[in-house]
Amino acid sequence: MPATVFTFILTVSTLCGSRGVLHAPRNVEISSNNMDLVLSWDPPADPTHGLLYRTEFNSSVSKYRVGCLNTSALRCDLTSLDINLYGTYTARVRAELGAESSVWVESPQIILDKNTNIGPPSVSLISNGATIEVSITDPVFKISELRRAYNYATYNITYWKEGQQEKAVSISNVQQNRVVVNTLQPWTRYCFQVQIHTDRNLRPSEPSSITCGSTTSKEEAPWVAAVVTFVVMAMVVTLVVVAVVHRKKIFHFLCPKDSLPQHFKEYLLEPPTSSIYLAMRDSHPPEEVYHQVSIITDGRTVEEERPPEAGGSDCSKPTEITEGET
Ligand SMILES: *[C@@H]1O[C@H](CO)[C@@H](O)[C@H](O)[C@H]1NC(C)=O
Ligand SMILES: *[C@@H]1O[C@H](CO)[C@@H](O)[C@H](O)[C@H]1NC(C)=O
Repeated sequence: MPATVFTFILTVSTLCGSRGVLHAPRNVEISSNNMDLVLSWDPPADPTHGLLYRTEFNSSVSKYRVGCLNTSALRCDLTSLDINLYGTYTARVRAELGAESSVWVESPQIILDKNTNIGPPSVSLISNGATIEVSITDPVFKISELRRAYNYATYNITYWKEGQQEKAVSISNVQQNRVVVNTLQPWTRYCFQVQIHTDRNLRPSEPSSITCGSTTSKEEAPWVAAVVTFVVMAMVVTLVVVAVVHRKKIFHFLCPKDSLPQHFKEYLLEPPTSSIYLAMRDSHPPEEVYHQVSIITDGRTVEEERPPEAGGSDCSKPTEITEGET
């Protein structure tokens, strides 16, 4: 069509002769990607040195406004010129050289939200056991955001076992951007591709790049739980054992401090010393007991031990025992 338009315009301008001698730009296109708005064209068939272009654009509800002036580029980005998400636009361009100008060449009409090319979403996968979570990020729009521009946008998630794309399965009309796919086989590599469908755009988005990830064991979660339980139990048992051992050690270390008789009790387990212990233990209770012990054991020892409490005539024996223990 642009070629036809060009031929027509060329014919008109040639016939009329009043539009100047400059040839008009060719292949005038208006396009939109992710809600931008760009007019582009090719130079005339016989470009003159120093040729500049002037572009204008209008919407269905406004007159022509200036787009780019005196540009030598072959495109004009109209996105920043206060365009509307739902606007219907037409743009035109002409070549200029000094006071000379070509005829205007008008672009086709574009309805922004309906015709814009929606770029590919980006996809990332999180593998968890025999499931894969698909996380989708919308393409970035030049004006607005995808979900503000379109009231209703859904994802079509297609996945397949790697190498078996012909057996691909699709989940369509997905509205959430995080989806857990749990109909997968364990220990298998799957590939995913996502497209966005909207309520008003004629075409779905460009498909995302293909992203692949592997599932692992289905039993992973219970297995992990079992391992965690086992580790916790092992730690508890270890703690108990350590506590018991520790308590004995504490017992060993603290007894001399807390209670000398207890301390002696262990030290005097052997028969010779045991009798001494008995004598000592019995030395604390009433005097009757003390007298009995003194009868059973060496009277001198008992008598020697007794004096510290009674009169302190001989302290050497208890002191020696204490030192021996220590
Ligand atoms: C564009 O070029 C014309 C002619 O060369 C000049 O008169 C005019 O001032 C220029 N406009 C801008 C905005 O540069
Ligand atoms: C989803 O995408 C797949 C693969 O591109 C396609 O075959 C299928 O028709 C799409 N489903 C919908 C509802 O658009």
